Amino acid sequence: MNPTRDSSQRVYLDHAATTPVRPEVRAAMEPFLSDETFGNPSSAHWAGRPARAALAEARERIASAVAAEPHQIVFTSGGTEADNLAVLGGALAARSAGRPFRVAVSAIEHKAVLDAARVVERLGGEMILLPVSTTGRVDPGAVDAALEQGVALLSVMWVNNEMGAVQDVAALAELAAAANIPFHTDAVQALGKIPCTMADAPITLLTLSGHKIGAPKGIGALVVRDKQALEPLLHGGGQQEGVRPGTENVAGAVGLGVAVELASAERAETERHTRELRDDLERRIIESVPDAHVNGVEGERAPHVSSVAIPGTDSNALLMQLDLAGIACSAGSACATGTTAPSHVLTAMGLSDALASASVRFSFAHRSTARDVDRVLEVLPDAVQQVRTLVASLGDET
Ligand SMILES: Cc1ncc(COP(=O)(O)O)c(C=O)c1O
Repeated sequence: MNPTRDSSQRVYLDHAATTPVRPEVRAAMEPFLSDETFGNPSSAHWAGRPARAALAEARERIASAVAAEPHQIVFTSGGTEADNLAVLGGALAARSAGRPFRVAVSAIEHKAVLDAARVVERLGGEMILLPVSTTGRVDPGAVDAALEQGVALLSVMWVNNEMGAVQDVAALAELAAAANIPFHTDAVQALGKIPCTMADAPITLLTLSGHKIGAPKGIGALVVRDKQALEPLLHGGGQQEGVRPGTENVAGAVGLGVAVELASAERAETERHTRELRDDLERRIIESVPDAHVNGVEGERAPHVSSVAIPGTDSNALLMQLDLAGIACSAGSACATGTTAPSHVLTAMGLSDALASASVRFSFAHRSTARDVDRVLEVLPDAVQQVRTLVASLGDET
């Protein structure tokens, strides 16, 4: 049986791309997808009240998990929108207040941050790209220099989605607070993986996404400590205090509330479990492919992501071989799959284009098993051999 057809043979190690909806989340959402509780949360009548109450409860659950106030939770359509609202909305608010129209973002941010910062440039502002070390850590000297120039906002992600680097968010947020500017962190890959709350540092804006933690795709949140730090990007009804107008995705918000609560409650166990599997995978890959290298291994990494550079291969060809054997993983980020450009994250860490284009990401969740790791090791060494032969033969032809 073709392993991609036989679901018992399938291995899913791409949880940084997305996760299945958890049963507890689906159950909590169900009433809001039926004709039981369908009201508009802004309606004052009987149909609106339960929807409004459900939104309030979801805000409470999220706020309590990330040590924020319920009114600080702004629901969005996901991490991408939350990042755009933070970076672009933050820069526009600064411009309106006569402060510098300039944002400082790390070179390894998700495209949602980088491209929002590029819009600032297109609108006549500036973007300062903060370099990172070989382990993916932002250079504090570069942050100091950027803050001295005057910036509207500093945005550095908590955990990198491609190779797991963890930033010293507390130190960065302190630097921003000392300069009296907002600090934004994309915590999409941090929540439920490492300790991560608004109480850990003077964070102004924090991005969350539902589908990385067992809620559906299309729901996320921006935790906003100071609404003055933002200019809305959407305009319309006055929902969510006008920061993000539009009738709220009630079912999605309910699902996000439950997912965030579960992810936070299970964080320590998920951290232990995924670290054990990840470390085992990395050790055994190095044993069977000795010249493979784990990207950023010398630095502090979140436990659920592993990016492995395998010299002489090509990540897209390797992913195809693994997929044929029923193994789902990715090159860099899922949004970059299919692109031929080497990962901006890995090249910013100093990897050559060739090595960055020969890197594969495996990412774990609480539901991953030792069998998943065994299966990768059954398939990977031969797949590497085949891809190396292919790449070498193509090289001979040119
Ligand atoms: C670090 C990070 N930020 C933002 C996003 C975007 O989130 P969403 O898919 O909810 O728009 C992702 C997802 O790929 C991510 O990994």
